[in-house]
Amino acid sequence: MRSTTSNELRSLYLEFFQEHGHAVIPSASLIPENDPTVLFTTAGMHPLVPYLLGSPHPVGKRLTDVQKCVRTSDIDEVGDASHLTFFEMLGNWSLGDYFKREAIAWSWEFLTSDRWLGIPQDELAFSVFIGDENAPRDDVSFKLWRDQGVPAERIFYLPKENNWWGPAGLTGPCGPDTEMFIITDKEPCGPDCSPACSCGRYLEIWNDVFMQYNKIADGTLVPLPAPNVDTGMGLERTLCVLTGKKSVYETDLFVPILDKIAELTGKVYGSDEETTKAFRIVADHVRTSVFLIGDPRGVTPSNVDQGYVLRRLIRRAVRHGMKLGAPEGFIARIADVIIAGYCGVYPELGKAADFIKEQLLLEEGRFQRTLQQGTREFEKAASRLTGGTIDGLTAFHLYDTYGFPIEITAELARERGLSVDEAGFRERFAAHQERSHAGAEQRFKGGLVDASDQTARLHTATHLLHAALRRVLGNDVAQKGSNITAERLRFDFSFGRKMTKDELAEVERLVNESIQADHPIDCREMTVDEARGEGAIGLFESKYGDRVKVYTMGTVSKEICGGPHASHTGELVSFKIQKEEASSAGVRRIRAVIGASSDGAGA
Ligand code: ALA
Repeated sequence: MRSTTSNELRSLYLEFFQEHGHAVIPSASLIPENDPTVLFTTAGMHPLVPYLLGSPHPVGKRLTDVQKCVRTSDIDEVGDASHLTFFEMLGNWSLGDYFKREAIAWSWEFLTSDRWLGIPQDELAFSVFIGDENAPRDDVSFKLWRDQGVPAERIFYLPKENNWWGPAGLTGPCGPDTEMFIITDKEPCGPDCSPACSCGRYLEIWNDVFMQYNKIADGTLVPLPAPNVDTGMGLERTLCVLTGKKSVYETDLFVPILDKIAELTGKVYGSDEETTKAFRIVADHVRTSVFLIGDPRGVTPSNVDQGYVLRRLIRRAVRHGMKLGAPEGFIARIADVIIAGYCGVYPELGKAADFIKEQLLLEEGRFQRTLQQGTREFEKAASRLTGGTIDGLTAFHLYDTYGFPIEITAELARERGLSVDEAGFRERFAAHQERSHAGAEQRFKGGLVDASDQTARLHTATHLLHAALRRVLGNDVAQKGSNITAERLRFDFSFGRKMTKDELAEVERLVNESIQADHPIDCREMTVDEARGEGAIGLFESKYGDRVKVYTMGTVSKEICGGPHASHTGELVSFKIQKEEASSAGVRRIRAVIGASSDGAGA
């Protein structure tokens, strides 16, 4: 078997599938664009859902990539030998092109050929779908593995729980799969030992999914217009198996991170179970946080959605780092090592390095300030206990006053053999949220009619504002969000502090100056690379081959956008900032209005 490195494994995979006619596409963002039902990209197929459902992909029917993925459902398991919240998935796709025969033959060749991974044939086992009322038993895949010379006793028919994949969200493409396993030197756990059991004899390394159905909202499986292949090989896990390491943390992806934690804490990885677990939690959580903050659709810590998950990850890393005796600011120093290790493969991390570290420092600081006090508060509550449960009010108080995500309170409780009334916590939490939402509804009362000309002008004003902010505050300012109603624009951008009165006045002045200059607004379509070449700003989610619209306003602004826009900046009449405030950590929010009224007559 070939002993390999992470870099080599990525390149081998892409090279193999390129040789078989696949186009290499870049990893998409960790934040799904087309699926509001999930927070993160959880598999390589996720960003490809529209194409798996039948839209033509611009670069063809055979694709391969290495996709960044985040899965946080098993976050509490992190600390053992194999669970991770971030991982990379190697994958290849047939979009209505090849099917089982080629997919299985290529998987076999890549795994066993000496030119590629060179895994001894008798160390591999396979599983195929046993069939149920919705889809037939997959005898075709069974036969195809047999044709490669695999003995029947190493091909297992397994049910839906094991051999059916998808959809990634609530609806979408799915189908039966065939999975590939390395057989370890662990003895079978019993006569029925199979890849379905978790005894550790069989380690899954690759999954070929034969996507034949689209699961729709009522749960029905509708056959797809053309069947696809979706495969996924976890980089970390496969690397671990190929290099004979006991855990993913011992692979080259993690060693430098663990070394840094050791250097910062003076502790030795592996010295005892608790220390090992803390090292792994810190390494995993900081790695995931770096990728989330450094993503092109970057996340910053907050109390909702992706921002909340990020906050939990950072705070849990801080807590375990403190247990190891790490000095203040340690998270950002570990991030340095992670960025250095990955920026060759993911250049976005190098570009966002300062922003990533700043965000980590800010969030660590916020939590450090209350961590000790909150922990003392927790201890007090725990010592007062008569039963074994921390009540919901205390848990909410720890959240509200000390910034303890409920999961941290639950973890602290578990460490002391206690539990938390999480339902009670959620009740208090919901009551608190209702109060803040009522406030928001009041603010927006007055109707959200979409007067389209006004919307177009507010889009234009947003570009001018973005450009002015970069001139006044520097080019690190990047758009983090935008929301337009018929009355106002709202613009979120990365910036670490409150803006001064002078800065706000200057931004307002610059935008008004551009309005008065009455620049014509030019829109041209081009490729992402051309747009980048022209120095356009905006969200570069470079999907290979995608064409984008670039709007130019004089020499003031050149930005990628979907539009719509005014035809001249003068249509905006005037511009006024109403409010500048914090949106989430490291992100500011501006609300502004323009002088043109909805009927275009001017204010
Ligand atoms: N989508 C399949 C998986 O994630 C390949 O395992």
